[in-house]
Amino acid sequence: MTVVREAPSYVRSPAGAFLNSLGVDRALVRFDLSGSVAHVEMLARVGLVTPDEATTILAGLRTIAAEVADGRFAWREELEDVHTNVEVRLTELVGPVGGKLHTGRSRNDQVALDERLYLRAAVRDLAHRLLGLESALLERAAAEATTPMPGYTHLQRAQPITLGHLLLAHFWRFDRDVDRLFATVDRASVSPLGAGALAGSTLPTDPAWVAARLGFARAFENSLDAVSDRDPFAELLFDLALLAVHASGLAEEVVLFASKEFGFLERTAALGSGSSLMPQKRNPDVAELIRGKAGGPLGDLVALLTALKGLPLAYDRDLQEDKGPVLHAVASVRGVVDALAALVPALGFDRARLSEAAADPELYATDRAERLVADGTPFREAHETVGPDARSGHAPAGGAPSAAASLGRRNAPGGPGPKAVAAQIALARARLAARSDSLSSLDRSVELVEELLQEKRE
Ligand code: ARG
Repeated sequence: MTVVREAPSYVRSPAGAFLNSLGVDRALVRFDLSGSVAHVEMLARVGLVTPDEATTILAGLRTIAAEVADGRFAWREELEDVHTNVEVRLTELVGPVGGKLHTGRSRNDQVALDERLYLRAAVRDLAHRLLGLESALLERAAAEATTPMPGYTHLQRAQPITLGHLLLAHFWRFDRDVDRLFATVDRASVSPLGAGALAGSTLPTDPAWVAARLGFARAFENSLDAVSDRDPFAELLFDLALLAVHASGLAEEVVLFASKEFGFLERTAALGSGSSLMPQKRNPDVAELIRGKAGGPLGDLVALLTALKGLPLAYDRDLQEDKGPVLHAVASVRGVVDALAALVPALGFDRARLSEAAADPELYATDRAERLVADGTPFREAHETVGPDARSGHAPAGGAPSAAASLGRRNAPGGPGPKAVAAQIALARARLAARSDSLSSLDRSVELVEELLQEKRE
């Protein structure tokens, strides 16, 4: 039997359509439900609901979780947001006892909690994808550890490197992105539930118990801060913006290397599509789109920081504008990481072209100067001696060293020589293994929260 109830008075307003956030915050529904399960369990422990009432409310919440999962949940726009939709449906399902769910809690601490649970799950999902990308880069780097190519500064040929070294440079950037995302989750491991609207509750609630139940490190220290703190979202958006910047740099190299001018990459179907007009074209659209999408997360970061700037404590309705940028950036970056993870293994490097370019005598001008230095010439003098020949592009009298010989002398730690790259690959593999261990513990806390929505069968 379904009774369609009137909207509660607190969400009835002539400006209802403007105030509505359901289109965005319904994405948080599973976290909202998990948070409510923990809250009700706490209410039962401290005696604010009876064990029977708790059992009834928990069954109702899990029924709603099943309705949402099956796409059967009837969302009602006039109920303003996800929180009121859930609460009204609960009362439909279990009767007036459903009205006890919101005991000792406000939508202000509730939404802050939902967001932290969402953040943890979003980072977990993204980290899995990023580790996939890192491992793709690592495998390609291992296969190209001895492939010579020119290294660039100012996009001008500078000194010889190996392709493996270049690919690993991208690996380490993405690895720092993973590190930042994990650190963001760690700092966000504070439960705001119990802060109420702004000043806690006069009832004997137990925020520390709820925090532990949901896998957080601790409960809030200050109720005003707890309901208004959006630092986790701001950090997440910065992490995503920088990740998008890193992705755009890799994408740019793909675009350049796939041009006929460079010719380092075969123009295969994996790069993108053709032209509707020019029959010869094979465009690097995947990389171009990755490059272009960086604008989104950068804008999302600025949008959030701007919404937060100058807000008085504690909750202000401006904070409702926090979720759109985050959901957008997470979805966009997820697409970018997936596209790169598919692209990297499919890149067709033209080793002959790379070696040919690496044989350019210009690349070895520094080597020649350093040879003179090794024989005792002051560096500045050696620079002047080698300069004119090197700048004219002529091969020097004694001939240029081979790429292999030059790279063989560039094996100091962190260098581009094959031996240094082999050592770097070992470091990168160890790093990736450590990252997947951290990810397993994140997996467990996300799964713990998911399990709160499963029916207990004891
Ligand atoms: N929709 C609101 C948000 O996302 C939930 C909190 C509403 N609180 C309030 N006092 N109106 O921020």
